Amino acid sequence: MEQSAFASSEAIGAAARDVTHGSFRAARSDPHLAPRERLLGNATPLHGPTAATLGEQEADARGVHQEITEQLWRQGLAVVQLDQPLSPHRFMTLGDGLGTATPETDPAVQPFVQDGVILNLRSRHAPTAEVSLQPFARNSLSLHSESSGAAASRQPRYIVLLCVNPGDDTPHARTVLVPMREVARRLSPRTLELLSHTGYRDSPAAPPIARHVDGRWVFSFRDFLDQELRWTHDRPDTDPEAVNAALRELLTAMYTPEEAIAVRWRRGLLVVIDNTYYFHGRTAGAATPPRQQRHLQRLRIR
Ligand SMILES: [Fe+2]
Repeated sequence: MEQSAFASSEAIGAAARDVTHGSFRAARSDPHLAPRERLLGNATPLHGPTAATLGEQEADARGVHQEITEQLWRQGLAVVQLDQPLSPHRFMTLGDGLGTATPETDPAVQPFVQDGVILNLRSRHAPTAEVSLQPFARNSLSLHSESSGAAASRQPRYIVLLCVNPGDDTPHARTVLVPMREVARRLSPRTLELLSHTGYRDSPAAPPIARHVDGRWVFSFRDFLDQELRWTHDRPDTDPEAVNAALRELLTAMYTPEEAIAVRWRRGLLVVIDNTYYFHGRTAGAATPPRQQRHLQRLRIR
C-alpha cells in the first residue's frame, strides 16, 4: 500500500480550476492501522450500551416508540431490551413512527429482504472480499456512516436493528458505535475545515465529508480500508497532501475513541442508531463457523 496525492491534470476550464482533486490510499505507516486492527479484531476492551428493559406490559407500540424517541433525543442512540423480538408487522410500525423505511432494492441482497424494507442479516457466509455480501459474512466491517456516497437527503437518518437470534458467537461480531461528537472534538479546526470542503469525487451528490448541522459536526464517510478514495476539494490551490493528512487524522480519531460502544447481541435487543450521531461498524466473527448463525433484522429510515 502506498499513499498518493496529486494535483489533477483534469483541471480543464474555469470550473475545474476552482477545485483541487486528489486521492487517498492508506499507507502501512498510517497511525490508524494498528488501533483499527485491535478494535475490529475484538482486542480493544469496549463498554456495552446501557439498555432500557421494557417488560411485556410497557412494550406496546406506544411504550417502545416513546422510549426510543426519548433516548434518540438525548443521545442519538436508543437501546431497548424487549422480552421478545417484535413481529415483522410491529417492527415496520415502529419504523413508520420514526420516518419512512427505505426499500431494499439491491439485487444482491434480495434473498434476505422481507416485506420490501426489512433486511435479514444472517452471518451465513465465510469471510469474503465481495462487499455486497459482507454484511452476511463473518468479516469485520470498517467504520462508516450509512450510505456515505448518497446525497444527504437520501441517506438514512436511523438504522434500526432487532436481534431475532444472537447465535452462539456473541463475544465476536459485535456492532461498534463511535460518537461523531468525540471524533470532531479530537480533530483540529483546520482539519475540520479542510474536510468540510472535501467530498467523494465519484459520488458528486454526496455531502462533504464533514458538515456543520444544527451546531454540531456530522460526518459522511466510510473507511475505504486499502482501497483508493478519490476526492475533490472545492477550493483551488489547496495542497493535496494537506487534505490527505486531514483524512489520516480523521481515520485516527475514528479508531482511537474513548467513548466507543460495542453491542453484544441478545434476543429481543433493539438498537436505533442516528446516522448523524454515530459511525458504526462490526468486529470480526469467530474464525470457525458458529453452530448457530446470528440473525438481526434491519430497517433504514429516512
Ligand atoms: Fe452500515
